[in-house]
Amino acid sequence: MTVKFGVLGAGRIGQVHARAIASVPGATLVAVADAVEAAAQALQDQYGCEIRTIDEIREADDVDAVIICTPTDTHADLIEAFVKAGKAVFCEKPVDLDVARARQVIETVAAENGTLMVGFQRRFDPDFRALKAAIDEGRIGEVEMVTLTSRDPGAPPPAYIQSSGGIFRDMTIHDFDVARWLLGEEVETVIAQASVLTDPEIGKLGDYDSVNVILRTASGKQCTITNSRRATYGYDQRIEVHGSAGSISAMNHREANIEIATGDGYTKPPLLNFFMSRYTAAYAAEIAAFVEALRTGAPMPTTGLDGLRALELADAALQSAKTGQAVSLSAR
Ligand SMILES: NC(=O)c1ccc[n+]([C@@H]2O[C@H](COP(=O)([O-])OP(=O)(O)OC[C@H]3O[C@@H](n4cnc5c(N)ncnc54)[C@H](O)[C@@H]3O)[C@@H](O)[C@H]2O)c1
Repeated sequence: MTVKFGVLGAGRIGQVHARAIASVPGATLVAVADAVEAAAQALQDQYGCEIRTIDEIREADDVDAVIICTPTDTHADLIEAFVKAGKAVFCEKPVDLDVARARQVIETVAAENGTLMVGFQRRFDPDFRALKAAIDEGRIGEVEMVTLTSRDPGAPPPAYIQSSGGIFRDMTIHDFDVARWLLGEEVETVIAQASVLTDPEIGKLGDYDSVNVILRTASGKQCTITNSRRATYGYDQRIEVHGSAGSISAMNHREANIEIATGDGYTKPPLLNFFMSRYTAAYAAEIAAFVEALRTGAPMPTTGLDGLRALELADAALQSAKTGQAVSLSAR
């Protein structure tokens, strides 16, 4: 069985997913929709898919599944519309900016007996999977402290920031998902600090660009997340997990894994620049996992509930940053 895809939104992540579909056996890109003709045209030129409207893709008999890559504020309505039309849905994070609306979407998907996978690609990164497998094999004993470092090379444009829901819901949301995945327990308490250090324009939009978050589970396991919208040296993506019997880490990806030694010292090639190149393998693996789950009928590996939990943590972090108080998830 070949899963026939429609891609909704052909911007930064839409292009990444089109490439992922092309790399996955048993997946084919049939159609693309974008509000901007040139964006859709670029995907047609590259992959030979048809340009259609969103409504045409929803009604199409030759489309089995869609990947929603349009701006965040469109996700909830599109998920519901496509699930009701009988399409399997893969939606980019976040499901919505509002927790109540995200819950509603999950209920609609369940009522329709629909299929929804939420795009948290870091769980599919080969290094992070190997790290998780080592944890699951007991190589470092019990997980005690997780440290996640995520720094972007630069901030997105103001228009993107305005519709993104802010750094916690747009960027840290990936770290919240990885934290839940690696801690193996739900988070109970969130403490966050947030500042504008890289660009005052971000502050004028009501957002932050530099945040630190500490998560604590009921049994006392902790995760520290550090995020910045600026890293002059590239896309900084590292994980360290400290356990009762050792620790395990996943380091940054470089353009080449070499080190040059001269009389002036040691140098290494730059880091891969951003998510499009750093997580290429992860995006392909997550679409492969989506296709595999559709084929076998297995549960989706990342669900609407994962999307909801990460969003709840984002809201709690924002509340903590604004009030200076620790926020208990159970008290919210
Ligand atoms: N998982 C990840 O790593 C990751 C990375 C980037 C973005 N995202 C998510 O993907 C979504 C899109 O982000 P992006 O960076 O690709 O944004 P983008 O602005 O680059 O692309 C969005 C595209 O959607 C199109 N569009 C806007 N409104 C539309 C509509 N109503 N109908 C059809 N097309 C429409 C735009 O013309 C644009 O081409 C966001 O929700 C973001 O949170 C996820």
